[in-house]
Amino acid sequence: MAGSAAVEAVNLRKRYGEVEALKGLNLRVGYGEIYGLIGPNGAGKTTTLKCVVGLLKPNAGRVSVCGWDVVRERVNALRNVSYVPENPVVFQNLTVEDFIKFIISLRGLAWSDVREEFEDYLRKFKLVGKRRALMKELSRGMVQKALVIAALLVRPKVLVMDEPMAGMDPEAQHVFKEEVRRAVEGGATALISSHLLDMVERFCTRVGIIDGGRLVMEGSIKEVKEAAAGSESLEEVFLKVVSGSGR
Ligand SMILES: Nc1ncnc2c1ncn2[C@@H]1O[C@H](COP(=O)(O)OP(=O)(O)OP(=O)(O)O)[C@@H](O)[C@H]1O
Ligand SMILES: [Mg+2]
Repeated sequence: MAGSAAVEAVNLRKRYGEVEALKGLNLRVGYGEIYGLIGPNGAGKTTTLKCVVGLLKPNAGRVSVCGWDVVRERVNALRNVSYVPENPVVFQNLTVEDFIKFIISLRGLAWSDVREEFEDYLRKFKLVGKRRALMKELSRGMVQKALVIAALLVRPKVLVMDEPMAGMDPEAQHVFKEEVRRAVEGGATALISSHLLDMVERFCTRVGIIDGGRLVMEGSIKEVKEAAAGSESLEEVFLKVVSGSGR
């Protein structure tokens, strides 16, 4: 859609009872970006991502994916999105292979079309021996791998991932970055929350810093370093920008 962004949130507000988690958050992720969302615990990253993927309804403001409003045009908006959740608790009694088959069928894709790619991902992520293991029998990092494989296999326009590398070993992290990059080269956009600042600094094209339910800084890595009084690293930017605010 002309002029639209891959993800756009305008003046987003979300309240859980007394807690105002998002206080007028503005976020714009352009097509083809690998956008890193960072911020302290409780800043509102997961709440933001859940609004983007339609799991939470904002109290005010709007959020769109590829120009489609997530609340009013939900089906059109969400057919473009893959989501890797922060705390996956569902699908515990499915095997890895059945879980992924289930996700594929939800998207109306044929298993035969993605089977080869699935086998490839199992090899790359060292999960071949676990294809018949139940999701609840996997280690933390293995769960993340299975979720990421499912998210990539449906070939989404927008990948929304909440701390996807949590628990992944260095080799898996490397594979993750390669595969996300490949998806982006193929036309996808990625929005990734993370506490791994070194990774975000090297991997992401843009970064947004959330603090206290607001986006407090955004730009390319170079831009945010300059904006935060000539910081040398993203860690330094983070420590300067979030210290004392919003908590
Ligand atoms: N289900 C809920 N009920 C009540 N409060 C909630 C709920 N989920 C989140 N919150 C509150 O909303 C705020 C934002 O939480 P959120 O999970 O979005 O933060 P986050 O940036 O993802 O943090 P983390 O880095 O720890 O994952 C916090 O104050 C949190 O306690
Ligand atoms: Mg979170």
